[in-house]
Amino acid sequence: MTKHLLTALLLTCVGATNAYADQYSALYPGGDPVVGKTLLQKNCIQCHASSFGGDGSAIYTRENRLVKTSRGLKAQVRNCNTMLGLKWFEDEELHVTSYLNQTYYHFEK
Ligand code: HEC
Repeated sequence: MTKHLLTALLLTCVGATNAYADQYSALYPGGDPVVGKTLLQKNCIQCHASSFGGDGSAIYTRENRLVKTSRGLKAQVRNCNTMLGLKWFEDEELHVTSYLNQTYYHFEK
């Protein structure tokens, strides 16, 4: 529990730096992490939380996570969108992708 809290705090601090935010948004042009967070919370988190506990975010930070690259992250979000039949447009995928990257994955290129 304490470990998770520390990780969350650490990620929050890193995510709060503007320099980082700019770097990340360049990776997914047009992606708005604030909008992405809302989309993710509404459509995705419940299932992750039921398998991984807590707020479900351990799925993105676990040691053997699936996503290894920025392109892989985009592809994974697209797969989930298609699989779940959400019919998100590309810009919605980019919002969610940029939120996940800024908050959890931290790919820079
Ligand atoms: C019905 C359950 C369910 C829903 C809904 C769901 N996911 Fe997932 N998601 C999973 C499972 C299970 C895995 C892990 C698959 C594995 O480990 O093989 C996963 C893995 C992921 C990963 C990769 C994590 C890693 O290992 O790096 C991402 C990113 C992801 N989901 C994003 C989303 C997004 C975005 C949505 C909403 C559009 C979503 N998921 C909705 C079940 C779900």
